[in-house]
Order: sequence, then C-alpha cells, then structure tokens
Amino acid sequence: MSYSLVELITAKRDGEELDPGALRWIITEYTAGRVPSYQVSALLMAIIFKGMTQAELGPWTEAMLHSGDVLDLSALTGPKVDKHSTGGVGDKISIPLVPIVVACGIAVPMISGRGLGHTGGTLDKLESIPGFSTQYEPERINRQMKDIGAVMVGQTDRLVPADRKIYALRDATGTVPSDPLISSSIMSKKLAEDIDGLLLDVKVGSGAFKRTLDDATKLASMMVGIGVSHDTPVTVVFTNMDQPLGRAVGNANEIAESIEVLRGGGPPDVVELTMRFAEEMLMLAGSDSRLDAAAAVEKAVSSGAAFDTMAKIVEHQGGNPAVLDDLSLLPSAPHEHVLTAETGGYIVRCDAYEIGLASVRLGAGRTTKKDQVDHSVGLMIEAKVGDTVEAGQPLATISYRDEDSLESALSVLVDTFVVSAEPVEPPDLILGELR
Ligand code: URA
Repeated sequence: MSYSLVELITAKRDGEELDPGALRWIITEYTAGRVPSYQVSALLMAIIFKGMTQAELGPWTEAMLHSGDVLDLSALTGPKVDKHSTGGVGDKISIPLVPIVVACGIAVPMISGRGLGHTGGTLDKLESIPGFSTQYEPERINRQMKDIGAVMVGQTDRLVPADRKIYALRDATGTVPSDPLISSSIMSKKLAEDIDGLLLDVKVGSGAFKRTLDDATKLASMMVGIGVSHDTPVTVVFTNMDQPLGRAVGNANEIAESIEVLRGGGPPDVVELTMRFAEEMLMLAGSDSRLDAAAAVEKAVSSGAAFDTMAKIVEHQGGNPAVLDDLSLLPSAPHEHVLTAETGGYIVRCDAYEIGLASVRLGAGRTTKKDQVDHSVGLMIEAKVGDTVEAGQPLATISYRDEDSLESALSVLVDTFVVSAEPVEPPDLILGELR
C-alpha cells in the first residue's frame, strides 16, 4: 500500500497516531531513497513536538531494525553482550570497554554511531586511528566475530541503513532530542546485533540529551520496554554528564586517553565507569557473582590481555596497531591555545554542553550531514569540578587548525569554567540504575 507523506506529516503535526503500515512504509521508502529528505525532516520535527505512542514506537523500531540485514552470530557458542550510551562529551568509554570485556571471554558485536549534535561518536573517534575502517558487510562482521569475538562498526547500506540515514538527517536538522527517535535509533542498532544482553549508559546533565534524572528515566524505560518485547535483557546505568568525562574531548585525543586506560592508567572517572560497565556486562553475560566479575575485569587490564585484544581489533579493521605503542602516530593539530583561570579558587562549573559545542566548532564534529570530521582537533580539560586552580593556571588546552575555528570555539567557552572561593565536592559519577 502507498501513502502520501505530506498527509502523514500533517497527521503527525496535528497529534494523530500513525498506523503501523504507514510507519513501515516511511522507513522503507526513505531507506530506498524514494521519498525526499526534506519531507522526512518535517516528519521528524513533528515527532519532536508530538512524540510517538507505544503503538507507533514498536513498528517504527521494528522497521528500522529490519531495514537491512541482521547479524547471524549462531556460530558463537558463548554469550554476546553490548553497551550503548545515549551520548555525551568526552565519552570514550566504549573504546577501552570492548577489549576488556572480550579479554574476559565475552563476545561484543558493537554497532555504534557517529557524533550527534554536540556529542562525540565512537566511530569518528576510532577512525582517527590511521587505516581503521568501521564499514563492513554483515558476512565480514560475522567472520571477525568468529575469529576474535569483537567488532566495532557502524550502520551501513546493509546494516540498519534506516538508522544510518535518519541519524545523519537528525544531526543536521535539530531533531536529535526526542525520546522515541533516540530509543528507536539505539535499539534498532542493538537488536540487529543478535545479542543476549545490553547495557545502556543513559547520560544525565548539561552535556546530555536529558537534563534531569526523571527525564532520563522516561527515556530509559522506553528502551527497556523495546528490549523486553524482543526478549533481550537490558541493564541501565544513569551517569553524570554535567562535565565532560575524562580530560580529552575530540577524536584522536580520546583514542589516546582510551589507550592509557588499557595500559592501566587514565583519568579516574573514565577508569571508574569503564570498570563498572565491564562488570555489568559480565553480569549480563551470566557471571556467577559481582566479585568474580570485578576480579576478571581487573585481571584483563593488569595482565595486558585487554591491550592485546585492542591491538587485534585495530589490526582486523585495517588500522595501524603501532598506534597503541606510539601515540604520536595519531593525527595532531598544528596549533595550541591555552585557556587560563583569571582568579584562583575552586572549580564549581566545567560545562559539558559548551565544551562539546566548542569541540564541534573546532571541527571535531559536524554541522551539516556532509561535513568531514577533523580528527586532530579538540580540547584537553585541565581542571574539573572540585579541583583548585591558581590565577593563570590552565583550564583547557585547545588544539586547533585555524584562527577562525579557534575564535568560534572560544566564543562559547566564555562562562564554561567558573571559579569560586567556596570549595565544592566533585559530583557523583553514577546516579542510579534500572534493570
Ligand atoms: N545514540 C544513538 O545511537 N542514537 C541516538 O539517537 C542518540 C544516541
């Protein structure tokens, strides 16, 4: 059956429920390139304002999930789990997390996204590794999963192609922050992976799509509901995104920070989340106890097994594994600018949203669908909430390519760091759970 897209846009704009056939038709036609992006953009904007009912979300997600092939991991005998984040600033956790979990004997077939709005994306970060490819056919992914138990790839023309197209369109049309659009995007990718369990990191705070725990809980419940209807257990951890995670915000610099974690170092917040998430994934995979899971995760890092697994992933996906031993092989920007504190005191604000925006303006993210990401640029955050600084001490080191982009980035960083005479405690990193 054929529909009129303009009638469907009008119906959604006026708050009507679209029938399952119409929702499936939109996904099929857009994936095949038979309806124009401007009409789908208008529909997405109507969804932003009017939302989607549960009866709409099911068929919409299902149509996205089956817009291409799904992975067939039946050749693997052990458990397969994955993790996804709703998106944050400096959120590189997936990069050290996958090799750690795989080194513990659990398979991880990760289909990730690119940067969205002011948030960074795992694929863009991984592509800073010279030669690293994130685009593979399903058969090749199935083979790599059989060989090394891990893959870190993106949507393709054959793998969740509907999400690939809609994700890029949302990024360029201000239609990212919608619970049904975020839920269907994440869950269609994850359910196409043939996994036994999923860990969701739902971010809360200024740099997240959800500012409050209440709003984050609504989004999480929607995703858990989709998981339940597909018999896939989902564990949710809510985490703080008022300030960036770790020090590095960008692409290549986030890879360097991730490698530090695999070497047993790295910023405390990145290490804490990585280890906690690895434990959660082992529990989803059927670990006997949290104590056993924690010990296995610790050993995967201290023995070097996780580092070696990362080298295998890089090698299998065409990247140069020498990067892991020599970070100078990563792309680096030609210039640096240091932002300093005007007065001494305690850092009480280090705003994730503004830092994410600054990073995009430097070129580390996209403002249009066709923009090329500059992997070399970004920020190193030198002081975070709870730290003390003296006047003249660095707050952030900005790596940039040209003066225009630096100026544009600096214009959003005016009030990002606030220094006060009153001490504050660093914020809690983990805000809650939902299972
Ligand atoms: N991550 C995704 O994969 N999709 C979204 O819409 C948001 C975060």
